[in-house]
Amino acid sequence: MQKLSFIILTFLLFAFSCNTNHEKKYIIGFSQCIMDDVWRQAMIVEMNIESLNYDNIDIILMDAEGNNQKQIDQIRELINMKVDVLIISPNEADYITPIAVEAYRSGIPTIITDRKINSNNYTVYVAGDSYQIGKMAGAHASSILPNEATILEVWGTKTTSPAIERHQGFIDGLDKSKTFNFLSVEGKWRREISKKETEKLSNHNSIDLVYAHNDVMAIGAREAIASRDSTLLSNITIMGVDGAFGKDAGLEAVSDGRLDASFLYPTGGDEVIKIAMKILSNEPVKREYILKSTRIIDKNTAQTLLLQSDQLMNYQSKIEQQKNNLDTIKNNFSVLRHSLLLILLLTALLLIFSIYIYIINGKIHRRNNHLRLKNEEINKQKKQLIILNEKIKEVNDQKIQFFMNVSHEIRTPLTLILNPLDKLIKKSNDPALSTDLMRMRKSTNKLAGIIDQLLDFQRIENDKMLLDCSEIDIVQFTLNIKTFFDELAESRNINYSFKADRSSVLLYFDADKMEKALMNLLSNAFKFTRDNGTIALSIHSYEETICIFLMDDGIGIEKEKLPYIFDRFYTDTKNNKTGTGIGLHLTQKFVKMHGGKVIVESDPNHKTVFTIELPISKDPIHEFTKSDVQLKLPETISSLVEESKKAKEILQAKYNFNILIVEDDPEIRSYLSEELSENLHVQVAENGVEALQLLEGENNISLVLSDVLMPKMNGYELCRIIKTTPEMSHISVILLTALDNVDQRLYGITEGADDYIAKPFHIDYIKIKIILLLKERQRLQKKFMQTMHTGGILSIEDDGVMDESDKIFMSNFISLLETSYVNSDLSIEKLSKELNISRVHLYRKIKDISGLTPVDILRNFRMSKAVELLNKRLYSVSEIAYQTGFSSPAYFSKCFKDLYSMTPSEYIVKEKN
Ligand code: FRU
Repeated sequence: MQKLSFIILTFLLFAFSCNTNHEKKYIIGFSQCIMDDVWRQAMIVEMNIESLNYDNIDIILMDAEGNNQKQIDQIRELINMKVDVLIISPNEADYITPIAVEAYRSGIPTIITDRKINSNNYTVYVAGDSYQIGKMAGAHASSILPNEATILEVWGTKTTSPAIERHQGFIDGLDKSKTFNFLSVEGKWRREISKKETEKLSNHNSIDLVYAHNDVMAIGAREAIASRDSTLLSNITIMGVDGAFGKDAGLEAVSDGRLDASFLYPTGGDEVIKIAMKILSNEPVKREYILKSTRIIDKNTAQTLLLQSDQLMNYQSKIEQQKNNLDTIKNNFSVLRHSLLLILLLTALLLIFSIYIYIINGKIHRRNNHLRLKNEEINKQKKQLIILNEKIKEVNDQKIQFFMNVSHEIRTPLTLILNPLDKLIKKSNDPALSTDLMRMRKSTNKLAGIIDQLLDFQRIENDKMLLDCSEIDIVQFTLNIKTFFDELAESRNINYSFKADRSSVLLYFDADKMEKALMNLLSNAFKFTRDNGTIALSIHSYEETICIFLMDDGIGIEKEKLPYIFDRFYTDTKNNKTGTGIGLHLTQKFVKMHGGKVIVESDPNHKTVFTIELPISKDPIHEFTKSDVQLKLPETISSLVEESKKAKEILQAKYNFNILIVEDDPEIRSYLSEELSENLHVQVAENGVEALQLLEGENNISLVLSDVLMPKMNGYELCRIIKTTPEMSHISVILLTALDNVDQRLYGITEGADDYIAKPFHIDYIKIKIILLLKERQRLQKKFMQTMHTGGILSIEDDGVMDESDKIFMSNFISLLETSYVNSDLSIEKLSKELNISRVHLYRKIKDISGLTPVDILRNFRMSKAVELLNKRLYSVSEIAYQTGFSSPAYFSKCFKDLYSMTPSEYIVKEKN
């Protein structure tokens, strides 16, 4: 914008400089000694007329009114004004000469006009020739006067050059052959003075001729004579000098007879201006311009000259009028020019603004482009960052996954250590060996704990952690956990106490997670408290919260580290204790999941307090609570198993079931095989392909316990094939997976798996699970057998607790079976389509209601129909097989045998009897 202002200013200066006239304006100063007489007015008129020829001059006229001092002052003023040319018509030479010389010496071209000064220091002298005029007058006088005639000479101011020269010329012009008498008065160039001085004379009657140095004095003298005796005038010739036009001037007086003659003394007004202009335009000028006086002006000449002067004046006024017109036109032109300039200015401004806007637009456009490019670059960088971030996340996930895989890898062998170790501890009678074994179990448990923490960490990071809440007495719960460390406290002589302000407070919380949180804080407290130190656990209940305080006087945490201790992977490098750096992170996460918080205050080596603050709420916590699709695995099964007498009984018995273990890890395979062989008939396969080969043979396997991740064919694929192959679909499948992931479990279930068991497993838990499943199956089969005999199917699970909508659903399902069971290509897909629900949904619903899979029910339904037909004994076994939708008589026989442990033919025989 500054640049723009500069451009506008420059333009304005340019515009206004255009407005000024290129021709330089000159100032001509004119110091006039006197103004109130006609000759001088005529001089001014002539000057003005001449100046009309020039546009570039201004005349400053100053009237000294016949006062010498006044003229001196005025000339000085004009010098100070630095006029370009100074014209002086001096009053009296003696007075005016010094200032005129001063003006000339100051460098101002100085023109002396009319009267002379007593110096040669001037540029030009312009005047009429007073001596010649006087001479002409003298010659004329003597030509008309007789000898001895009397002449009255009326003088101008005697010290002025024209007066002196006119006198001298007159004397010299007189005819020397004649003698004249002379009278004289000093009229000082003024009519009144002339009149007054003439009046003073006594001998007017003797006067034959009056010669006045100018016309106005001649008129004054005439008036004086007339006032005495007007008759005298007829005998007196009166002559003046000047011959100027104008009222009461010489020409008029001669014309009207008041004067007899006048001699032209040119004013030189026009000549002075011409000379001044020559000087100003540096043209050469002469030192003196003597103006010609032509001749005597008599009455005729005067009248002619008057007419001419009138005409001249007329022309003059016309010229002036034209000049005025011209000025008006000029003014108009000037207005127009100004308007034009203004228009030009505005146009230029508009142009400048347009250019400015264009430039600004360009700049904005460029800037926008620049910004766009920048934006694009930023976006590109952003995308790169996102990609990088994703890569980092991916790498991070991979790292975490790696840790998790390692954890799983460690967890499985840990299981293989822990289980036999437990066995050994139970069997060992040697106290020394027992102590070592116990130590081994403690260390292994600790290791398992770390692995558990890592797995928990992964679940939390993947937002897969859910709460499994139940109503528990938090006081009792905390006290129980406290006791885990009693022994340790005692061995290290730590003053370890527990206090609660209430004996019991019921809270909804996830026991497993809260146990981990508390165990972690306690482990830390014991880790960082010296022997003989103090650790105090206390519980205080408030109106809306319950606080568990854990105080110790251990090394504590420096103030600046406090904000970071809950950060994942944070470990204090200064203390010598090591850790994974996720314990406190998990603790805080677990507590937060319960809507609580963990607060820490520490005064190192003096007092450190961790506070778990939990909200007291009767309602279960919803946000992280496991959904009903979550399949629950009791993680504290070991204690349950140990404590359960019923479990012991189950585990002690032997069962006539054939099971197949499919596991690629030889260690686990042989461990499982060894353990399960204690109760069941066990076969093993290394992968799905091998398993299928075995299943296709005649081996009567009731259940497959399969790992998920295996080479060649994974567990899901194996399960899917088993459950979709009619010949095998009755076989129960339990998936054994290290992938502790709800989605994957669900995936396994939807593929038809009857159940899953998460690694690491407790061997007794697997045994019980398998045995119970097979026994339940056996029970259902028996019940089904009975049902089939009575012809009812709906009564299978109808123990009176089935809700109405389930009954409707089930009866729809059975009706559908009724109308379509005869089709051997009837599949679960077709059934689910008919019922307008998804295959998975159908599976879950049927399984929920009946405890059987849809495939089981379809097969059993067909079987019940077949049994009905067998009982009627109207058709052969083959006919019945096809009539009831079995794909072949052989398959029908096989299924029949699986269910009733006899062939259909044997059944007919048996029924006959
Ligand atoms: C006017 C005048 C003229 C005369 C001239 C002489 O003031 O008196 O009449 O010619 O001055 O200086």
